[in-house]
Amino acid sequence: MKNIFRINQKINPFNKKIFVSADKSLSIRWVLLSSLSKKKSIAYNLLKSEDVISAISCIKKLGSKVNFKKKKCEIVGTGLNFNLNKKLILNAGNSGTLGRLILGLLINYQNNIKLIGDKSLSKRDFLRVIMPLKKFGANFVSNKNKLPLNIRGTKKPKPINYFESKGSAQCKTSVILAALKAKGETKIKAKKSRDHTELMLRHLKLPIKIKKTKKFDFINVKGVNEINPLNYKLPGDISSCAFFIVLTILSKKSKVLLKNINVNPSRIGIIKILKKMGAKIKIINEKKYKGEKIADILVRSSNNLKGINCPTKFNSSAIDEFLVIFLVAAKSKGTSIFKGLSELNQKESPRLKIGSKILSLMGVKNQVTKNSIKIFGNPNISLSHKIIIKKYLKDHRIFMMSTIAALTFGGNWTIHDANSINTSFPSFLRKLKDLEH
Ligand code: S3P
Repeated sequence: MKNIFRINQKINPFNKKIFVSADKSLSIRWVLLSSLSKKKSIAYNLLKSEDVISAISCIKKLGSKVNFKKKKCEIVGTGLNFNLNKKLILNAGNSGTLGRLILGLLINYQNNIKLIGDKSLSKRDFLRVIMPLKKFGANFVSNKNKLPLNIRGTKKPKPINYFESKGSAQCKTSVILAALKAKGETKIKAKKSRDHTELMLRHLKLPIKIKKTKKFDFINVKGVNEINPLNYKLPGDISSCAFFIVLTILSKKSKVLLKNINVNPSRIGIIKILKKMGAKIKIINEKKYKGEKIADILVRSSNNLKGINCPTKFNSSAIDEFLVIFLVAAKSKGTSIFKGLSELNQKESPRLKIGSKILSLMGVKNQVTKNSIKIFGNPNISLSHKIIIKKYLKDHRIFMMSTIAALTFGGNWTIHDANSINTSFPSFLRKLKDLEH
């Protein structure tokens, strides 16, 4: 695939059904949890992307057996304890989710493990997981709380009390995984974030108690000696759908049906926000699968979009989708304001900062601070100038956002690092092409 992508034409009207690729959060969780069972777990439609392949490479190094062919992946794990205790190097690649979650699994690995990652991951904060995991008894040596870091686990992890204050599912999950290995009960009070791990544990009938209040989730997890295998059919990823949702909303006379998507309430902030802005989106054919909600999403071209003063209660459930939400704001009547978004700058690239830069390159007036952005929308926006997008740490979502902007607003775009889509949505460009036929 060419690594530089050029677009100089808006997309023609389309009316299509799309299956996006499988949910990345669920795929990584399935791989890690399966590695904790000594019996065979089977997944169908596991996401075959670089982040998931990195997860598989890590658990293989730790002793799990994996057979991933076409649509089916089988894992026979090590159980909760490891059979080996040699020094290892694990590579989390580009994935913050993998890097943070796997540290929870390593809490009882009794030799040195060095965790490394790519250039983008090596700039990201690991203190957020080092702090709680230290309390279980693990030792860390790191490069100013960033990668590369060394972890040495403990034979007897102690349960902890933990307050997760960032709304980070990665931190919460890392602690939940470690808690499965500690003798006794770990008590977590967590700001709202995606709850896939909790639902998987509940489905596995593991000793987890969950109490949800408006602002916080209270989660108690007890250590166990073994866990059952987990068979799973992975649904589509709402974060990958987001690009097609916004493409459709901003295109003329178009309609798309996104099939079999995970619409867990902790993930559908984008739908709630865009509906408030006047977008035509419907969730249909809802069903339950192993505790998760799955549905189809019907989207139509939407005129008369209006700006939003976005309630911060949606931040966590739309965290990976803000870049494309900003594009809708750019085409809406009036000003939009998004606040409390400092976590966006902690992603694969500083997305709030770079999102604002891209809007500026497009000629969209915006004001950005460390944690907020104000976007001055224009329903008649149409571009014809040259725009070059590069130097953004090869962030997949920045590449895909730029592609959607080019296809809907016009202009003459050169977008670097097309290969970045391989981390989360390798078939993105192919699916876009399918809309043309
Ligand atoms: C994820 C959690 C979110 C999200 C990331 C995936 C997960 O990060 O941005 O893409 O699978 O747990 P934080 O937990 O840091 O908010």
